[in-house]
Amino acid sequence: MRIILTGSRGQLAHDVGDRLGLGNEVRGVDLPEVDITRPESVRELMDGFRPQVVVNCAAFTQVDACETERDLSFAVNAVGPGLLAEEAKRVGSYLVHISTDYVFDGQRPASRAYIETDSTGPLSWYGRTKLEGEQRVLNSGVSAAILRTAWLYGRKGKNFPKTMLRLALRNPERELKVVDDQQGSPTWSWRLAEQIEAVIGARCEGIFHSTAEGQTDWHAFARFFLEGMAVPFQMRPCPSSDYPTPAHRPANSILENSRLKALGLNRFIDWREDLQEFIRRYRMELIEEARA
Ligand SMILES: NC(=O)c1ccc[n+]([C@@H]2O[C@H](COP(=O)([O-])OP(=O)(O)OC[C@H]3O[C@@H](n4cnc5c(N)ncnc54)[C@H](OP(=O)(O)O)[C@@H]3O)[C@@H](O)[C@H]2O)c1
Repeated sequence: MRIILTGSRGQLAHDVGDRLGLGNEVRGVDLPEVDITRPESVRELMDGFRPQVVVNCAAFTQVDACETERDLSFAVNAVGPGLLAEEAKRVGSYLVHISTDYVFDGQRPASRAYIETDSTGPLSWYGRTKLEGEQRVLNSGVSAAILRTAWLYGRKGKNFPKTMLRLALRNPERELKVVDDQQGSPTWSWRLAEQIEAVIGARCEGIFHSTAEGQTDWHAFARFFLEGMAVPFQMRPCPSSDYPTPAHRPANSILENSRLKALGLNRFIDWREDLQEFIRRYRMELIEEARA
C-alpha cells in the first residue's frame, strides 16, 4: 500500500511510520517540504505519490501557545485537515485523522467517560481548532476515520513523562508539584499506531475514541512513571488552581473506545501495562535523553 504520513517528525508519526513501514510504501512528510495549510503543497503531494491511504499526524499541539497563535493553530488544526480530506477524496484515498479529548468540556463526573456521540464543547482554542478540523474532514465526504486520543507519550518528541524525568534527574531533592484534579488515560503512541494499522485494515469510517484502558490523574501518572524508572524523586499533588495556564483543560478527559469495541477492533490495554512496557524498552535511552 502507498501511504502518506504527515507530521512525520512528530511523536506519534514516528511510531506510525515504524509500524506501517513494514510491508507498505510510506512517504513521511513534514515542514518545511510539505505544509498542510497550503493547498498547492497538499495537491502536489497527492498528485506526486497517489496514496491509497493518508495518515494525518500533523498538528499544532502546544495547547497554551494556541491561545496566542490563533491564526496559525487554526490553519494547521482546522484548514489543513480540510485540505487533506478534499485532496484525499479527489485521488480516491482513505484518510486517518487524529483528534483529541480536548473537544469536550470535561465537566461531567469522572465516573462517566465520554463516548463518540456525546456533545462536544471545547474549553480552549486548541480544542476548538481540532473540533473544526474534525468537522471539515467529515463534511468533505472523504472515506475517513477520525481517532480521538489523549495524554499521548512515546519514544520521540516531548511529552509529560519525559518532562517529569528531566525535572527529577536535575534535582531529586526538589519537591515536584503535580495536579491531581484532571482525569484521563495516558496513551502510548506505539499502541495508538497499532490501532491505526487495525483501522486502516478495516477501512472503518467516522469518529473513534482511541485511548488506553483505565484512567488516572497527572500526579498518579507521574508517580507511577518515575517509580517504574527507579529514579529518586519527591512529589506531591496539587490542584490545577496552583498552576494557572493560558488554556483551560478539561477535568474529565476520559474517553470510552465504544465504537472500536463494538466493531471488535479495540487494540488498547490498561495504561499501566503499556507504561511498564515503555519503561522496559526505553529506560536507559530516556535517562540519557533527559540528562543531555
Ligand atoms: N500530544 C498529546 O498529548 C496529544 C493528545 C491528544 C491528541 N493529540 C493529537 O495527536 C496528533 C499527534 O500529536 P503529536 O504529539 O505526535 O504531535 P507533535 O509531536 O507536535 O507532531 C506534530 C507534527 O506536525 C508538524 N506540523 C506542524 N505544522 C505543520 C504543517 N503546517 N504542515 C505539516 N506538518 C506540520 C510538526 O512540525 P513542527 O514540530 O516543525 O511544528 C510536528 O512534526 C495530533 O493530531 C494531536 O492533536 C496529541
